[in-house]
Amino acid sequence: MMKRTMAMTSLNGLEQVLRSDDVEGLKMSFFEMQHLYQSATREISTKLEILDDEFQVIHKRNPIHHMQSRIKSVKSIFDKLNRRELDISIESAKANLHDIAGIRVVCYYIEDIYMIAKMLTQQDDIELVKETDYIKNPKPNGYRSLHLVVKVPVFFSDGKEIVPVEIQIRTIAMDFWASLEHQLRYKTVDAIPPSVAKELQECADTIADTDMRMQRIYKTIEQFNYNTEE
Ligand code: GTP
Ligand code: MG
Repeated sequence: MMKRTMAMTSLNGLEQVLRSDDVEGLKMSFFEMQHLYQSATREISTKLEILDDEFQVIHKRNPIHHMQSRIKSVKSIFDKLNRRELDISIESAKANLHDIAGIRVVCYYIEDIYMIAKMLTQQDDIELVKETDYIKNPKPNGYRSLHLVVKVPVFFSDGKEIVPVEIQIRTIAMDFWASLEHQLRYKTVDAIPPSVAKELQECADTIADTDMRMQRIYKTIEQFNYNTEE
């Protein structure tokens, strides 16, 4: 295992700290690690697609609007290990970073979020490692989503590996706010001024209120259909 010896901000920085004959090997191992996490992402995505399809068959609607997945780039992995002053190694990345593989699941209604989370985490090959409910406890800036870290086994020719995947589950409305807030934050050179932060937070509350109203409308319609079908 290699000890961190100096500040690094990029792959080029890495080259300066490593002996030249190590560089290619280490980069290669990180690319192989990405394949491992890519495979774990596929396992989870398939499970979610199966749940979504089954719900469609039974209830004639999909709970999942869309999903996105991403694997942290090798550079971002290095940068994060570096920022947290951790060893730059495969072992260190695997042990310390739980968001190398990430899936974002965008649902129609708030209750779909909890249903999907429950159905996934009760599967007997899935281990729930961490759950943070930013819907019941929104972040001070107004951010809402349910965050899970789960571990899933991935089978290869020479055995299996248990791999963590970070899952963010949110409604279309929560995703709308988070996407715009993310973009605004990147556009702002300095910190967002307090008055703007307050307004953003108020928008998040308004959106959350609308989310609940839409869910009530859905329930009303569902009940109406149920009564007229009888
Ligand atoms: P990190 O190591 O920084 O990922 O810490 P963490 O895992 O404790 O982070 P957290 O659960 O707070 O957030 C993980 C991810 O959720 C982020 O990478 C974003 O994609 C998303 N997220 C969290 N907070 C916000 C927010 O305030 N705004 C937006 N737009 N996205 C957020
Ligand atoms: Mg994270």
